[in-house]
Amino acid sequence: MSDLPDDFNCTITNWEYIYSLCRDVSDDVRQDEFEPDVIVALARGGWFAGRCICDFLGLDDLTSLKMEHYVGTAEKSGEPTIRYPMPEGSVEGKDVLIIDDIADTGGSIKRAQEYVEQRNAGTVRTATLQLLQTSEFEPDYVGEQLEEWAWVVYPWNFIEDMVDLISGVMETADEESFAKADIRHYLNEYHDVDRIEMEIAQPNRLTEVLTEMERRDVVEMTAPGEWTLLE
Ligand code: ADE
Repeated sequence: MSDLPDDFNCTITNWEYIYSLCRDVSDDVRQDEFEPDVIVALARGGWFAGRCICDFLGLDDLTSLKMEHYVGTAEKSGEPTIRYPMPEGSVEGKDVLIIDDIADTGGSIKRAQEYVEQRNAGTVRTATLQLLQTSEFEPDYVGEQLEEWAWVVYPWNFIEDMVDLISGVMETADEESFAKADIRHYLNEYHDVDRIEMEIAQPNRLTEVLTEMERRDVVEMTAPGEWTLLE
């Protein structure tokens, strides 16, 4: 998310909510009478959904494809590439459901579908838990469509995203040091993250994130309850 602007809306989600989207996608697949032989979960965002959907649909064949957006060191390109090719024979002749967390540009899931189709699969369909209107690709099954673009903070990478978001707001706000209240204030100002919403979705996580930021040398505690961003 490092190539995003300073100011964009975020939505913080929790396991229960995401689990219910997995159930919704599974219901749609069942309703459609599509019976995939194998699920291909895109790494890393599609893993939780892939495992849950296997459970809901009664499948035990789950494989993975890692999509990356890098051209050089930390240089992002619009074109997703496949990091770990799929093992030989994993989809040949099989009906496949490809699953990811979100279609934003839609590039990853589109590329994944092309890749799987090139490997002589049977019917190949796609699903995402969430779909943004910015997506140029429409998956066959969608848990929910979001009306407005947002960065969705998923429970499986809550710490990863919060480290990025908090260090981002500290850099933008450009103050000497920040108390927890300041961090909450700027998360609200720049990312529309409401304190109550965050505490409902992910209760008591701010201390954990700040402790982890210290351990990763992203911030330093300069006085009790005050943190400074390290260069
Ligand atoms: N990955 C790509 N786009 C995303 C978004 N809007 N929210 C969360 N993860 C994403």
